[in-house]
Amino acid sequence: MTTAAPVASLTDRAAYDEAVDTALAAIGAYYGDGESPLDDASFDALARGIAVYEQEHPEHARADTPTGKVGGGAAPVGDVAHTVPMLSLDNVFSAEELLKWQASLARRIDGSVEGGYAVEPKLDGAALAARYRDGRLVQLVGRGDGTHGEDLSHAIGSIVGLPERLPVDATVEIRGEVLMTRTQFERANEIRVDHGAKVFSNPRNGTAGTLRAKDRPYVIETTFFAYGAVALDEVEFLRGRTHEEVMEQVRALGVQTTAAAEVGLRVYGTLEEVQARVEEIGRLRAELPFGIDGVVVKANSFAEQDAAGFATRHPHWATAYKLPPSEVQTKLVAVEWNVGRTGIIAPRAELAPVEVDGSVVRYATLHNPAFIRDSGMMIGDTVMVFKAGDIIPRIEAPVVALRTGGETAIVLPEVCPKCGGDIDKSGERWECADGTGGGCGLLAALRYAVGRDQLDVDGLGSTYIEALVESGAVGDVADLFNLTREQLAEAARSEKRADSLLEQLTQARAKPLNRVFCALGIVRTGRTLSRQIARHFGTMDAIRAADAEALAQVNKLPGANAPKIAAHIAAMGPVIDKLVTAGVNMTEPDAQGGGANGPLAGEVVVVTGGMLGLLAGHNRTQMNELIENAGGTSSGSVSKKTTILVAGESAGSKLAKAQQLGTRVLNEEEFAELLGEHLS
Ligand code: IVH
Repeated sequence: MTTAAPVASLTDRAAYDEAVDTALAAIGAYYGDGESPLDDASFDALARGIAVYEQEHPEHARADTPTGKVGGGAAPVGDVAHTVPMLSLDNVFSAEELLKWQASLARRIDGSVEGGYAVEPKLDGAALAARYRDGRLVQLVGRGDGTHGEDLSHAIGSIVGLPERLPVDATVEIRGEVLMTRTQFERANEIRVDHGAKVFSNPRNGTAGTLRAKDRPYVIETTFFAYGAVALDEVEFLRGRTHEEVMEQVRALGVQTTAAAEVGLRVYGTLEEVQARVEEIGRLRAELPFGIDGVVVKANSFAEQDAAGFATRHPHWATAYKLPPSEVQTKLVAVEWNVGRTGIIAPRAELAPVEVDGSVVRYATLHNPAFIRDSGMMIGDTVMVFKAGDIIPRIEAPVVALRTGGETAIVLPEVCPKCGGDIDKSGERWECADGTGGGCGLLAALRYAVGRDQLDVDGLGSTYIEALVESGAVGDVADLFNLTREQLAEAARSEKRADSLLEQLTQARAKPLNRVFCALGIVRTGRTLSRQIARHFGTMDAIRAADAEALAQVNKLPGANAPKIAAHIAAMGPVIDKLVTAGVNMTEPDAQGGGANGPLAGEVVVVTGGMLGLLAGHNRTQMNELIENAGGTSSGSVSKKTTILVAGESAGSKLAKAQQLGTRVLNEEEFAELLGEHLS
């Protein structure tokens, strides 16, 4: 933090022109879609180079130069006149430059600073003026060009820290910064993904876009921190002698200030203390819940502020001490795909090593394939790396302006990189769908096992399963039956839910073998084959004893699949043993010929329409279970082989076809009667 600010060296007019063009493009992008071709540090160096050149060659200075303009002259301007101009801050980059600022301040006030220095974070968001009349928040205005700003009143109600009513009928304009906390940023992007919108590349971008958006079908929350107040309608509501006093009054009105934050406003008597605080804030920065890009140092006393006065675009009584960038550009070298314990397949960026916030960054998270797709990132791209508040560094959208044409597409995996199994791409995060290989697709396997047609543990949703796997409590389906009430309560965050889950697990223990077998997720088997296998063998022991040849005898089981199925059953041996120990049922009630003598023996049955009467509430799986337990064969479509069509409510084309083929058609009552005792 003691390095001098870098300055781009512009040797001639052509270099100056090019620098101004680059800076204007960067400013435009900053206020536009955020894909700036320059990182913050490079921009500052360029801006300083431009200013130095203009001092030396005032005759070359362009009218559109960003020098000395609020927002470089490119901020969106609105039509609401500011009560008092909303200004920029001048920057310092080192202890040395801070000393120079103090010396110039002392010159201007004709003596040393007596009222102390207010030190507060330079919040990295968007400036906002919040107008309260008679205690009501009536208007929000953006900074614009400093004299006029955009009306952003539509955002009232979505900004944390900016109450719509004050406890007193104050008329006052409170100024501060709107930003997205890290949590708000993540939440915002979740909401965006849900609505098919492009993700925000960083919190600052998200804030700017959110403040301007009027007709979104969803609300994105932001946060306000006040750093000043001015009179409104010539009412001097807040009176005080110092910045600190006024900020305390703002806080007392219920508007959020930085006061409560670890890096919030403090007042110091000496510049050494200020420097120490700047360094302390620099160290705390990475852990903060929001982004800051510097530390603002202000003369605390209003009398001294008045004496110091203003330059065209910034006050002489304040300066922004810029912290080293926490956002740096580097190259995306490669993308790795890692499979976590839960089977989630996560992309990780390998970067050309770069120093960010004092440590070397080599990798960054790429979140998920949707992020890669939405950001349009390619291998070889220049990307922004940022660490603010994050343990794992992130990278933002690529800097498209710096593409060379040599970039290549990021190849998304076709199969699970760990086990070669299928990938479940239905969610935003991809998962290994194969629960068979080394626990790779564990989450998918567990979700399947507790599903309605398997063990039917209704309350055990994905979130709880993930928590249980993450905690190490569950490594396979059998572990579910050994969970303690405490473990369930922790995962479900409720003792009540834990009790209900325990009850459901007790019921799951008693499920028929076909469901328990199905819950194992054996390759090439599903609900139908699981029922056939369970009925054919009757017990889990008999299933385990069967070789491929014996399995091939099972009705509907394709002989070619039998070896794979047999191998997988053998591999699941330890899990099955654990299930037995946990007291899970391993027999099929209607097995071993019970069905062969059943009322549907030899019948091929198709069910269509909604079930009423005694069969009400039976879904297709349950109907098929009934049919097969009664000795029949269930089928999904009517053909010449079909011997019975069970036609429920609103039966349609299948009924017509059955009638055409002369197939026997039964309504639910007739069918229930035919099933007789098999119905129970
Ligand atoms: S005081 C006249 N205090 O920085 C002084 N500004 O570059 C005006 N900012 O437009 C601003 N944190 O949006 C002040 N603690 C802070 C700030 C802060 C962030 C922003 C503000 C301003 C810009 C100036």
